[in-house]
Amino acid sequence: MTKKRIFITGAAGFIGFHVARTLAQRGDEVLGYDNYNAYYDPQLKRDRAAELAKNGVLVLEGDVTDRVNLQQAIEKHQTTHILHLAAQAGVRYSLQNPHAYVQANIEGFLNILEICRLYPHLPLVYASSSSVYGLNTQLPFSVEERTDAQASFYGVTKKTNELMAHTYHHLFGIAVTGLRFFTVYGPWGRPDMAYFSFARAILEKRPIEVYNHGQMKRDFTYIDDIVAGTIAALERSLPYALFNLGHHHPENLLDMIHFLEQELGCTTEKILLPLQAGDVVSTYANIEASQQELGFSPKVSLREGIAHFVRWYQAYYPQHVHR
Ligand SMILES: NC(=O)c1ccc[n+]([C@@H]2O[C@H](COP(=O)([O-])OP(=O)(O)OC[C@H]3O[C@@H](n4cnc5c(N)ncnc54)[C@H](O)[C@@H]3O)[C@@H](O)[C@H]2O)c1
Repeated sequence: MTKKRIFITGAAGFIGFHVARTLAQRGDEVLGYDNYNAYYDPQLKRDRAAELAKNGVLVLEGDVTDRVNLQQAIEKHQTTHILHLAAQAGVRYSLQNPHAYVQANIEGFLNILEICRLYPHLPLVYASSSSVYGLNTQLPFSVEERTDAQASFYGVTKKTNELMAHTYHHLFGIAVTGLRFFTVYGPWGRPDMAYFSFARAILEKRPIEVYNHGQMKRDFTYIDDIVAGTIAALERSLPYALFNLGHHHPENLLDMIHFLEQELGCTTEKILLPLQAGDVVSTYANIEASQQELGFSPKVSLREGIAHFVRWYQAYYPQHVHR
């Protein structure tokens, strides 16, 4: 494959960092763009960017809502592909601060689409989410299904992105692929996600709050599998597509906690609580189309992936110092 010049928004974030590093290591030219916001510890984002710098990747400090700055960065890099991952993530925080989601996820995405409209030869791959399935009950979730009953405002912004992408493809011929990621986890992960915050609590012997009395299933997907699927989507650069990227192997929340406790070598008290507003009980990805079109084939089991995460966690927080 010829060398690409890829512009990645949200490159100091969890998924962006991993994709950027893999692309750079195989020889593509990557430029990152991130506002390093304080939704979670910005030092972790700076540390990811420092790792990327070792691989020759710069992560410019900039906001996707700043259209002029964004466009200049994309032009200066002589970009051949855009991977748009910058977003306000998190289901629960969208109940507290919906405005942050409109700005980053909707206004920011419109800026990306408007730049693609100016440069229609630039293929775009962007992050959607399993959250678009919301209250759907037909499992596994298929991209063929209607998705018009999101359970959280975060899900609404991701569904809105899909509608915007569709319209810009229809109107201006932009080549655009959306990826519905399913509960991505692994080293350098996001501290606001359950597996990460539970690891902290277990080590500190603090009780953990387990919602829906633990009766939840998630299609936990290891980061390396997500990286492979995302790079395949960039390589294909289909005219218009939407894919599920999930493990296709849902696991019980309590089993995830059990694997964490085993790897960390200690246990903690679980406080069983009702389902939280915005949450859904189960997620499960139908990945037939992703397998066929992207060769997507998730390989890492939850037990194995949690072990990789815990090894990274212990090395990153050697004295279990929390920042
Ligand atoms: N991790 C998951 O399980 C998961 C699941 C579904 C979808 N997603 C989506 O995948 C993408 C990446 O998620 P992640 O887990 O790496 O999250 P993350 O929060 O680690 O990464 C997002 C990055 O975007 C940056 N950002 C936020 N707003 C910005 C703005 N206005 N301008 C510039 N940069 C901004 C943040 O600083 C952060 O570094 C997001 O779009 C997220 O919604 C993630």
